[in-house]
Amino acid sequence: MAVTTLGELSFPTGFLWGTATAAHQIEGSNTNSDWWRFEHTADSGCRDSSGDACDSWHLWAQDLDIVAGLGLNSFRFSVEWARIEPANGEFSVAALDHYRRVIEGCHERAIVPIVTLHHFTLPQWVADAGGFEAPEIVNWFSRYAEKVGAALGDGIGIACTINEPNIVALMGYLFGVFPPKQRGWSRFEAVNETMRRCHGAMRDALKAGPGEFPVGLTLSMTEYEAAPGGEDRTASWVRAMEDLYLEGVRGDDFLGVQCYSKTVISATGQVPPPAGSELTDMGYLYWPQCVESTVRRAADIARVPLIVTENGIATTNDPRRIDYIDEALRGLHRTISDGIDVRGYCQWSLLDNFEWVLGYSQKFGIVSVDRTTFERTVKPSATWFGNVAQRNSLGLHY
Ligand code: BGC
Repeated sequence: MAVTTLGELSFPTGFLWGTATAAHQIEGSNTNSDWWRFEHTADSGCRDSSGDACDSWHLWAQDLDIVAGLGLNSFRFSVEWARIEPANGEFSVAALDHYRRVIEGCHERAIVPIVTLHHFTLPQWVADAGGFEAPEIVNWFSRYAEKVGAALGDGIGIACTINEPNIVALMGYLFGVFPPKQRGWSRFEAVNETMRRCHGAMRDALKAGPGEFPVGLTLSMTEYEAAPGGEDRTASWVRAMEDLYLEGVRGDDFLGVQCYSKTVISATGQVPPPAGSELTDMGYLYWPQCVESTVRRAADIARVPLIVTENGIATTNDPRRIDYIDEALRGLHRTISDGIDVRGYCQWSLLDNFEWVLGYSQKFGIVSVDRTTFERTVKPSATWFGNVAQRNSLGLHY
């Protein structure tokens, strides 16, 4: 059937169109981090070492040129604590200068720098002292945020304190899949609580420093559904993974919503998608509708402005990536039409990159990266997404 463009679904003026990355996943040779050590431990379960990643430590200007060339007006990246504070209390001026150049590079290209301070990785000295269970962790985060704010605050566009604190707690302290590979519900709950304290301390430290920029955390959300009999279990997951955070960020400048799919829970645990459902390469149900539902929940409970700081799909079928983002954005547009204050959408991810324990097997990027030459190739989904950004609207199809 021919698709007719009737009109446009316009987004608000000044809407942020971006793409997201994280230091460890793209920079390469992050050798002083807990993850680097984990990847090189025999029983970690990691498929690959992050190795050189996308060599964005050196090729960041190319990355920014691509973002600008596509017509995007924002770029989310993280600064790496393991490089900035390689030893307790020892701060690297060179590392901070590096990130200053990246931030300046964004401004030169009219890109709003959305800067994350913690995206999954810790310096090894923090991990050795107990990681998120170390008695000093809140103070260490606060001091780190103060140094980052002092050095970079006048250039930061938007700051994200901690990326997906609930996933760090879940994967590291309940499922035992990420470092430090622990398993225990009470440890999971305690780490989540610590995360909220770390966020508050970092937010206050950033606010006290130079620059005037919104500060928030980014939360991993999913569209939860209770299978019959799974209502109580679902409720306790929703509370631990989302609601305690959503209630905790009331009063913040914004919340970053990150979502990929839908999760169905029965009385005994997570229910796999029904046979025959379309799955992404991560094994997730193909469910772009999650953007609309999680944004609505976040707005209801947190009552702060929202930015979708991550959403995307792992697939080698790039046209299907376009379908996924298109449908996600249509749902997002409905939330905005209903009056929800959504300020932007960052697609995950700019580059095919290091997907944690799954290594380089997952293709989330709108740009592919040759694993030996690091040559970047823009995929059709990138051009499509850039066109949406430049028009600040989606075509209205029927
Ligand atoms: C994380 C990213 C990750 C992405 C895709 C998010 O949970 O913030 O680091 O690569 O999801 O799995």
